Amino acid sequence: DPLIIRDKDEMTKWSRFMKAQGSTIGLVPTMGYLHEGHISLVKEAQKHADLIVVSIYVNPGQFSPNEDLSTYPSNFEGDIDKLRSVHGGVDVVFNPFNLYDYGVGEGGETMKRGEEEKGEKVISCVESSKFGHETWIRVENLEKGLCGKSRPIFFKGVATVVAKLFNIVEPDVAVFGKKDYQQWRIIRRMVRDLDFGIKIIGSELVREHDGLAMSSRNVHLSPQEREKALSISRSLYEAKKAAENGERYCTKLRNYVAQTIQKAGGKVDYDEIVDQESLENVEVIQRPVVFCIAAWFGNVRLIDNMEINSL
Ligand code: PAJ
Repeated sequence: DPLIIRDKDEMTKWSRFMKAQGSTIGLVPTMGYLHEGHISLVKEAQKHADLIVVSIYVNPGQFSPNEDLSTYPSNFEGDIDKLRSVHGGVDVVFNPFNLYDYGVGEGGETMKRGEEEKGEKVISCVESSKFGHETWIRVENLEKGLCGKSRPIFFKGVATVVAKLFNIVEPDVAVFGKKDYQQWRIIRRMVRDLDFGIKIIGSELVREHDGLAMSSRNVHLSPQEREKALSISRSLYEAKKAAENGERYCTKLRNYVAQTIQKAGGKVDYDEIVDQESLENVEVIQRPVVFCIAAWFGNVRLIDNMEINSL
């Protein structure tokens, strides 16, 4: 069974002890409500490290006040069961209660109180300096486009919490899913730019049998919405096929995908074809790109993407 560690100092102690014995550590950061996509990251991490730490932490700093922090699904016991049954095992589940608690001073205590009362912690992270935590990481260009447009504080919250997890767990390797393509690129860039010395692995996007990208948020889709949401992956597949068969003009591919999703009743947040490294917009496909989509079905915002590699 995995050891459950809830205190951040205990976490650091465990890691340092294990590393002193010569073990390498792989970290898989998550927000819980685990599914096969998360499990695939654990399996990937096992290939690169001796010991595996999975963190489960719903990070308030990456949600805006109008977003779904209060309804973000959780099932800690279920998550532990799933991790227990992973072949090869998970060594630690890090489920911190004191990540933003600095022990002393008004600031730290306010953040801690905020973490217990869900609505408040959101504000505390948006206007962070009033509440004791005022250091944030911004990956200035990569965070601007795609999800960054409609979620302006999202990546600053993600990069910062991941940096904190890296400093606490001190892993040798960390694994991120390409489901959140921009997030993966941002973390890689942060690690390079700030010399974290941690190897970042991008792991393939895992889909349901019918093509829907797995996501903890899928549980909020009604059966009808879920059926309609298949328009995302289906149209992306079609666009990828068209590109591989010679269609180079992104406007055409993008319009096709946007119209298909709209016809199914979805509201497109963005559909863009971007360079895989810089995430900058591409007009005519001449090198590997990634087609990124975000769309709303009902109250659920879904993201998906497909790499177009073989031209
Ligand atoms: P969460 O959405 O729980 O995702 C945790 C990790 O699982 C991320 O690296 C994500 O890309 C990956 N993942 C989710 N669905 C996947 C799928 N269908 N296929 C492959 N990988 C998938 O992403 C976060 O949490 C947070 O932003 C976090 C990085 C933990 C920081 O708070």
